[in-house]
Amino acid sequence: MKVTFTTADGEVVVAQGESGDSLLRLAQAAGLPLEGTCEGQMACSTCHVVIAQEWFDRLPDASEEEEDMLDLAAGVQRTSRLSCQIVLGEDMDGLAVAIPAESYDMRR
Ligand code: FES
Repeated sequence: MKVTFTTADGEVVVAQGESGDSLLRLAQAAGLPLEGTCEGQMACSTCHVVIAQEWFDRLPDASEEEEDMLDLAAGVQRTSRLSCQIVLGEDMDGLAVAIPAESYDMRR
């Protein structure tokens, strides 16, 4: 399935994912600047992304822990999610995600 990422600079990156992939891993594999420091332990919020509205409504709700972590993320919007908590499913072909301007990757 295809996932379209739009960076803060407006660059569009289309990544090819498989069902069961984590959105964070897919983004990192596509070279996007998501740090994901805690590797999905919901302890960092450096994997924060903004989901396109039409997709946000179709994703399973965020857990309370995810909501709490998102409260601490920079540049949070109404459709923000932690990408490490999103697992791609068959019905998510065409998912559109924006990388917030505040995200940066300390590994670079
Ligand atoms: Fe740390 Fe997602 S990788 S919260």
